[in-house]
Amino acid sequence: MENKKSKNKIMAIKKLIANECKTLGFAPEWFYGIHLLGVEKFAKKLLKQLPKADKEIVMLGVWLHDLQRIRGIKGDHAKIGAREAVKVLREFNYEKNKISRVKDIILSHTCGTNLRPKTIEGKILSSADAMAHYTNDFYLVIAVTGQRNLKEYKDWVMEKLDRNYNKKIYFDFAKKMIKKRHDIFKTIFTMN
Ligand SMILES: [Fe+2]
Ligand SMILES: [Fe+2]
Repeated sequence: MENKKSKNKIMAIKKLIANECKTLGFAPEWFYGIHLLGVEKFAKKLLKQLPKADKEIVMLGVWLHDLQRIRGIKGDHAKIGAREAVKVLREFNYEKNKISRVKDIILSHTCGTNLRPKTIEGKILSSADAMAHYTNDFYLVIAVTGQRNLKEYKDWVMEKLDRNYNKKIYFDFAKKMIKKRHDIFKTIFTMN
């Protein structure tokens, strides 16, 4: 019963985030479909292989980790995202301990220099966040925004590929899942 209740709450949060992505207008149109649904897909795949992880914490992290972007608030991506996530979790009456665990995995999801995920749930979120960019239009979508010239764009992609693969994906089996694609992307973006 408790399990069903917690699933329903996560579904309601997913709906809220989908709605914010579509109506607030701060995140680009593709953000929900291409990024968040991709993170969800990989988080579920990783959770299957890592049954000891707390699924509820991971899935809350999936839906709430990029709120800084979705809500268009200037400043530190992870810190503001964590702060906004806490607000949502309080509105949904989550207990303090769960709120603080979700907050922690959001704070470390970008794997900044001194803030790396310490828990298995944090490692799953960071990995799934990175893996989501390998199986959809993400790099093409960014390419057509025209924010960078070709050289800047290629440098940006190479830096992101390297950081995603080497710093954000924590499990060897997860790396294996996308290694082929990682190599293909690298080949494409180093051609000239
Ligand atoms: Fe993020
Ligand atoms: Fe993300």
